[in-house]
Amino acid sequence: MTDQTPTQNAVIAQLRAICGQANVLTHDDPGADLSPWEQDWRKRVKGRSLAVVRPGNTQEVAAVVKACASTNTPIVPQGGNTGLVVGGVPDGSGTQIVMSMTRMNAVRAIDPANLTITVEAGCVLQNLQAAAEHAGFLFPLSLGAEGSCTIGGNLGTNAGGTQVVRYGNTRELCLGLEVVTAQGEVWHGLTGLRKDNTGYDLRNLMIGSEGTLGIITAATMKLYPQPAAQLTAWAAVPSMDAAVQLLGLAHQRLGPGLTGFEVMGQFALSLVDKHYPQLRVPLWQETPWCVLLENSDSENETHARGQFEALLEAALDAGCVTNAVVAENLTQAKGLWHIRESITLAQVQEGQNIKHDISIPVSRIPAFVADTDALLEREVPGVRLVDFGHLGDGNLHYNVQAPKAADGPAFVRTFEDKINTLVFDQVKRFGGSISAEHGVGEQKVNKLPLYKDPTALAMMRAIKQTLDPQNILNPGRVLA
Ligand code: FAD
Ligand code: MLT
Ligand code: ZN
Repeated sequence: MTDQTPTQNAVIAQLRAICGQANVLTHDDPGADLSPWEQDWRKRVKGRSLAVVRPGNTQEVAAVVKACASTNTPIVPQGGNTGLVVGGVPDGSGTQIVMSMTRMNAVRAIDPANLTITVEAGCVLQNLQAAAEHAGFLFPLSLGAEGSCTIGGNLGTNAGGTQVVRYGNTRELCLGLEVVTAQGEVWHGLTGLRKDNTGYDLRNLMIGSEGTLGIITAATMKLYPQPAAQLTAWAAVPSMDAAVQLLGLAHQRLGPGLTGFEVMGQFALSLVDKHYPQLRVPLWQETPWCVLLENSDSENETHARGQFEALLEAALDAGCVTNAVVAENLTQAKGLWHIRESITLAQVQEGQNIKHDISIPVSRIPAFVADTDALLEREVPGVRLVDFGHLGDGNLHYNVQAPKAADGPAFVRTFEDKINTLVFDQVKRFGGSISAEHGVGEQKVNKLPLYKDPTALAMMRAIKQTLDPQNILNPGRVLA
């Protein structure tokens, strides 16, 4: 038996009464293995929970929160556990409840005239996309983890992904929330309204709060018409300056048709080529960078192709592209996207690494990269830079891999703080943000006060204190 206090045993009994015996897992259960809920995706942290509770509806979530609040038991909300900043797993104390939302996965309603879909928080993103498609619409949020991340987690982190350049972050796609507060009250905010000026914007406060202000139980999300045609191109570009020039041309010529603009560095693509040779990465040996572009057209494929070819011709003439391929069909297009989405996994295969999800004004990215590459090479000779990301949004994954023969874990242990400081100082100098996508979690909690405006930070602390005075919702995440 695990050494638990009588209060902790009473909480577990209460949770079992609320959600059912089978939906409260503890280390004392025969053959218990709670690692899927306790280990983060990057395998950087293995926590230990008091219990994993899996509520089946909003009333159960509210009752669980009330039971936890009455005993000061901390709760870590969790969706698909694909987060990259250690925000959705418990700490090592054995005192925190993981609240896994994955049983709450229903599509509650689709309103075609209002162009909205209402889903429960544990709905896997890919299932939400499929439900929208089945109804004849597009739900544009798209990211590499879409097969297992949940809309609750996407909202909790304000996830970005590869369509932000046209449709915005998860925040811009949300029209309403249902939330259980830290006191176990339910806020019924699933309005689906596009206009509502009746006071403070609580929806946007909850989005991106990483489970520290409330537990999202359901959301009303925007739907879009499906494009008539979607084309994907892969271009070799000679420099980051050229990639930014190409982005300008793509905006000019495709307008709102530009739905994806991803940049990928040569070393990042070499890792995909090395670990997944069957994917056949095109053009990666030709130039230091490649760009993946997507054109979504509301007319037809001939129109889309004509526009795309004209864009690429102009780019070749201007010298910002040296070679390009346009996917002939959907299978080829998916193959190109699959290469892009495989960079994260290829990096994992190569060994432990240091990840960044920074943003900088697009115009300043070439200078940032040149400057920061040089600084890093001077300070940590031999480091390998796995740079890629959402250039259309000014968001780079400026990742750092150990030198070739080095021991990955030892490299991370020794250099992570030094490299983070170096990169974040550069981000500040260039007017950027230390997290554009993945959030703060536990990983950047000590860095945030060094880079966030102090007045903004004080307002954040005041909000947290007001909404969660007991500090039971995901303590130690976002704010220390
Ligand atoms: P979890 O990891 O379970 O939780 C993430 C955070 O949200 C935690 O703080 C948690 O407490 C909170 N949370 C979860 N559910 C709720 C809820 N119902 N209410 C309140 N808070 C909640 N991210 C991007 O932004 N863009 C990308 O392109 C991208 N690509 C990725 C590719 C791969 C291969 C992987 C592994 C991850 C990627 N991510 C990306 C990161 C991750 O997928 C996103 O952060 C995603 O939004 C997390 O969803 P999740 O359901 O897995 O949340
Ligand atoms: C991506 O854009 O692929 C992600 O944000 C994941 C990552 O940074 O590895
Ligand atoms: Zn990303």
